[in-house]
Amino acid sequence: MAVLPKLLVFVWVSTIALSVLAFQQTQPELPIVISTWAFVDAVRAAAQHVIKEGGSAVNAVVRGCTVCEVLQCDGSVGYGGSPDEAGETTLDAMVMDGVCCASMDVGAVGALRSVKRAIETARLVMEHTEHTLLVGSQASAFSLSLGLPGPTNLSTDDSLQAWSQWEKGGCQPNFWRDVIPDSTSACGPYKVSALMSGQGDRSRVGGGISGKHRKSSFSKATGYGNHDTISMAVIDRNGRIAAGTSTNGASHKIPGRVGDGAIVGASAYADDDVGACGATGDGDVMMRFLPCYQVVESMRQGMTPEEAAKDSIARIRRKFPAFIGAVFAMNKYGVHAGACHGWIFQYTVQDSAMADAVVFTVKPDVL
Ligand code: GLY
Repeated sequence: MAVLPKLLVFVWVSTIALSVLAFQQTQPELPIVISTWAFVDAVRAAAQHVIKEGGSAVNAVVRGCTVCEVLQCDGSVGYGGSPDEAGETTLDAMVMDGVCCASMDVGAVGALRSVKRAIETARLVMEHTEHTLLVGSQASAFSLSLGLPGPTNLSTDDSLQAWSQWEKGGCQPNFWRDVIPDSTSACGPYKVSALMSGQGDRSRVGGGISGKHRKSSFSKATGYGNHDTISMAVIDRNGRIAAGTSTNGASHKIPGRVGDGAIVGASAYADDDVGACGATGDGDVMMRFLPCYQVVESMRQGMTPEEAAKDSIARIRRKFPAFIGAVFAMNKYGVHAGACHGWIFQYTVQDSAMADAVVFTVKPDVL
C-alpha cells in the first residue's frame, strides 16, 4: 500500500502536550482512537480502554462518546444543548461494529428524549435487538426498560435561556421555508399557503431551491464556537474497527427532526476490511450524501485517507456550496486525514505510541 508518500501531510497542528506548526505523520501504532474536534477527554478515555486495558473497539467508542455526553462537549453533545423549537433537547447517536465478513452491526437512536445515555442506548439497540434505529419517546421507553437511568429532563438553565432568547429574537434562525407567516422574520405556527401547497413544481420561484443557492441555517443555529457532534473511530489490538457518534443535533430544529448523528454512513462508518470515518456538520445536507460510507468505499477502491476525505467533502460542496461540514478518514493501518468545508476543522488522535492525545487542525480546501 503506497501510503508513506501520502503521509507527508502538512496541516496546521496544535497538540495538547506540545505545539508545532506542521506535522509529518509517521506510521501509527495500533490500537488507535480518532474523534472529531478537540474532544481530548473523550479520546483519552477511549484510548485508556483500548490501549491500556486491551478493551474492544466498540467498548472504547461507547466509552469515549459517553464521556462527551457527560461533559456536554462544546454544548453540542449530551443534555442541555441545541434546544429545539419547543425548548427541548433531544439526542441522536449511533454505533457500528465493522466486523469483517460477519455482521456490520449497527444500533442507533434518533430524537431520543429524557435519557442522557444516547450512545449506550444505541449500543443496546445493536446488541439486543434485530433493529437498527429507534426514535423518539419509544426509543426512550426502550432504553429505560433495559435499565438505563431516567427519565431525566435534558434541559438546563443555559439551554432554556438560549431557547428563550431565540424566541424573543423572532425565532431566528429556523429551518422552515416557503411558509406563512414568512419564517425569515416571524415565529410560527406556520402554514403552507394554497399557492405553495401540492403544486408539485419545485422549480418555480418560492418552490424548491437548488442546493447551489441555498444558505445554511445550520451555521447560524449552532452556538458554542460552531462545533458539533462527537464522531469517533477506534481500531483495537485485534484489528477490529468500530465507529460511533453522539450529538444533540441542530439548535432550533423542528421537533421530531433526526440528524445525521443517527444515520449509518452519514455520521460514521466502519469496516474492518478497510477503515473508518467520522463526520460532523450540517446533518440535513450531509445525510443525503452518506459522506462516511463514501469515504470508506473510496478507500476500498484505493484512495488514501486524505484523498477519500477530500473527495467526500468535494462531492457535497459541488451541490451545496454553502454547506458546513467535515470528515476524518482512517484506514485499517491507522493512517488518518481530515477534510472540511465552511469552517476550520479539528480532529483528535491517540495511538499506542503517543503519550497523549494530539489535536490536528485542518483548513478547508476551498474558502
Ligand atoms: N451533525 C449534527 C446534526 O446535524 O444533527
